[in-house]
Amino acid sequence: MLSPIISPHGGCVHGRQSLQDRFASRLSVRESLSRRVVSYQGNKSAPGLRWMKYKEGFSSELVDTLIDEAESRRVLDPFAGIGTTPLIAAGRGLEGTGIEIMPVGVLAGNAMATAANGIRPDEFDKAADQLLKRIESKRKPRKKDAFRHVRITESAFSDQTELDLAKAKGYIEQMGNAPVATLLNLACMSVLEDISYTRKDGQYLRWDHRSGRSLRSHMDKGEIQSLANALRTRLREISEDIEPLNLKFGSGSPTLKTASCLDALRKMPSASMDTVITSPPYANRYDYTRTYALELVWLGLDQNDFTALRQNLLSATVENKSKMTWLHEFYGESSLLKNAVAMYSGQEAIQEILATLEGKRKELSNPHIIRLIEGYFFEMAIVIAELGRIIIPGGTVFMVNDNVQYHGEEVPVDLILSDFAEQSGFECRNIWSLARGKGNSSQQMGRFGRREIRKCLYKWVRTT
Ligand SMILES: C[S@@+](CC[C@H](N)C(=O)[O-])C[C@H]1O[C@@H](n2cnc3c(N)ncnc32)[C@H](O)[C@@H]1O
Repeated sequence: MLSPIISPHGGCVHGRQSLQDRFASRLSVRESLSRRVVSYQGNKSAPGLRWMKYKEGFSSELVDTLIDEAESRRVLDPFAGIGTTPLIAAGRGLEGTGIEIMPVGVLAGNAMATAANGIRPDEFDKAADQLLKRIESKRKPRKKDAFRHVRITESAFSDQTELDLAKAKGYIEQMGNAPVATLLNLACMSVLEDISYTRKDGQYLRWDHRSGRSLRSHMDKGEIQSLANALRTRLREISEDIEPLNLKFGSGSPTLKTASCLDALRKMPSASMDTVITSPPYANRYDYTRTYALELVWLGLDQNDFTALRQNLLSATVENKSKMTWLHEFYGESSLLKNAVAMYSGQEAIQEILATLEGKRKELSNPHIIRLIEGYFFEMAIVIAELGRIIIPGGTVFMVNDNVQYHGEEVPVDLILSDFAEQSGFECRNIWSLARGKGNSSQQMGRFGRREIRKCLYKWVRTT
């Protein structure tokens, strides 16, 4: 039984309540959906997927199950992360396409595809051995291979680790585009957190006291491994996984595009995909460029690249500026944009949330939360309208996403996006939630009481 929507500020709830009433019969708990399955935890021992700890990913098991539930030949993930969806689809002989804006995810996906399609373990072992020898040699690295820090990564490594990283970079660069270089590059990128004074912790990087940074709290990571030692473990895992990957995924190669889906979906032909299995960023202020700062610097991004990348991500942080002007220029006079604008601005639930938060602007932990909500839903309206164009009649979209809450105001992301879907040619068949949602933050709980926030998998079928 769903509890009625309440606004702790006495704001209007009519829009949210009528959405909840409309979708109530389609909201249910799916017992087989565990946190392990909808998150990266399910991949901890999966060949390839275990190399890069991409905590925002979902499990290969979920993708396999959902492919079984939809008749698919062409499967798309517009927010592909490390490429779980396209990789599993391609491994099952389907056409798997992924669009991902973060080069971190694309390199991880490409590394798995490369390993699955034609690298011999002995060839890899030889190159891995040479890399370790180079790192442990007395030879000085070239200046140009130094780790080129941005502000938020400075002092992340010991001096010795900085030298070792430069030697590794030099060695990999001289290999050019050899497939093995992709795997070695991924191996180095995947151990950066372990060998640094940082720890990924929700939205932030936490810093060990040995970094020399001035810190508010004391954190000690314990023993921090050298690059060579951390790499040895990862290189062994990669070597062990080459054959299983080849057996499991070697029958097909996924297509992975480094792009914003707001840009790339526009260029895809209508009715060109059968199924989408995806999980967009959640509307929860999580900043991927912060969490993956070390990895992005390893891949060569400078301060300007960081700013541009953060702005191009789907708006989900308080730093994102509005993309409305750009989207209007990009889409021009298209009817798709007009429909997306109408869906967004006519959505009563969004407008009532925005009005209530606007009235409390001065009390918000950050006033840009309002801009975040506007940007998130406007951009998702465009993405969903595009999916309505790209998916064939009878095709299915599966989407994993979390609801959020700001200043005690419930934002039912699942209901709002399902409403957009129903205006874009889909029928929302199910909104399955996990048996247990997430609690609100302790800060919000203290002020507004405990409320469970739904984590859901939606199923939308294209009808027209
Ligand atoms: C929840 S994660 C999805 C992870 C994926 N399911 C996996 O298994 O690895 C959301 C992804 O969307 C990506 N993303 C954010 N904005 C994007 C955009 N405009 N276009 C494409 N990808 C984007 C993020 O970089 C992140 O990898």
